[in-house]
Amino acid sequence: MLEGKRIVLGVTGGIAAYKAVEVSRRLIDAGAHVVPIMTAGAQKFLGTATLSALASEPVQTELWNNATTPIPHTKIGQNADLIVVAPATARLIAAYRMGLSTDLLTNTLLATRAPVVVCPAMHAEMWEHPSVVENIAVLRERGVHIVEPTEGRLAGGDIGKGRLADPASIVEAAARVLGPNDMEGTSIVVSAGGTREPIDAVRVIANRSSGKQGYAIAAEAASRGASVTLVSTASLPAPYGVKVLQVETAAEMKVQMERTAADHDIIVMAAAVADFRPVKPAGGKLKKHAGPPEITLEPTPDILAELGSAKREGQIIVGFAAETDDLLSNASKKLSAKKLDLIIANDVSASRVGFGHDTNAVTLVRPDAEPVEIDLASKRDVARAVIDVIVTIRNRH
Ligand code: PMT
Repeated sequence: MLEGKRIVLGVTGGIAAYKAVEVSRRLIDAGAHVVPIMTAGAQKFLGTATLSALASEPVQTELWNNATTPIPHTKIGQNADLIVVAPATARLIAAYRMGLSTDLLTNTLLATRAPVVVCPAMHAEMWEHPSVVENIAVLRERGVHIVEPTEGRLAGGDIGKGRLADPASIVEAAARVLGPNDMEGTSIVVSAGGTREPIDAVRVIANRSSGKQGYAIAAEAASRGASVTLVSTASLPAPYGVKVLQVETAAEMKVQMERTAADHDIIVMAAAVADFRPVKPAGGKLKKHAGPPEITLEPTPDILAELGSAKREGQIIVGFAAETDDLLSNASKKLSAKKLDLIIANDVSASRVGFGHDTNAVTLVRPDAEPVEIDLASKRDVARAVIDVIVTIRNRH
């Protein structure tokens, strides 16, 4: 995702400085070369040795008598592909807005021409202070990318908006800034997770889908500039920049998919939708002493088939096929029966493939092209291949 990119990671003096270590690790996992800079304030919260150990280079802190070069800020700034400041304190934000260059980080921010991602973290009262609000607005107007803080527990046990965004979101933001923007201007709705069909007030018929593959597709599309809606039964962290609509049953998923499909260019059904559900779920909890219940099932609506039939001109409909045998022929049958533009087939009986795994192996089947096999890879790499094909299809429209 960030192969070969040189990313300066600026860390300032907030309690969330320790999370910079996780941001650095994730950036490196995504292929980046991380050049760490810590301010004096950051060093009050985090030892330089810790970040040096988990970055690509030792931490730099000094503007003067810098061991590596006499003018470190220009060297670092000119060689950067991106600068990420995480956490960014109110002080750093104000200095950056004013163009004050008082230390290595603020000098580097002025010396670079690379894009900048600022990840604020502070107490809610500070985040809401008019001067911070104005400083953030000015930075945004100048094209600085702001990864908003989240709601939650703050230092001192307070609760409010001001927590540093989670490291995964920060990395997604970096990927979005640096990555291909070939989905810019498109809208995509992705379903994810397994539906849960009620038997009674507490019991459900479910399946083993975790939602990981659908979330990976949503995250990949968002990182490439798409406007993304996720209709999900899973409770995974929302990918950066993705709107999540929570559902549980096939009926609820049908409603949300049909509602969102009306104004989305691309539809991807990665969810494991139950094929059958109890005709009449019991209102309360079925009593054990009443013995095993007779449960009559009925088919659920085939959401994907209905979306395929109602497809708008230019809309792209993508389905999945969870198979355990005759992968290609079963997937091809679904492709034509449901009038799809692409179906992603996975042999869910194979090791480390499909339900619940972090990896997947798929075959991409289209009506007008040879099938493409993606060998066992991370679900994010599979998502990248899926979005690549979707971009190809869209560019042909
Ligand atoms: O969620 P993970 O743990 O990451 O696992 C990923 C996955 C294995 C769930 C995913 O890769 C996958 O295969 N999803 C589709 C599972 C499924 O329901 O496949 P299917 O062959 O039964 O259904 C075919 C297609 O019709 C699917 O796009 C499905 O979303 C859709 N469908 C099925 C039934 C139904 N009533 N309505 C539908 O829209």
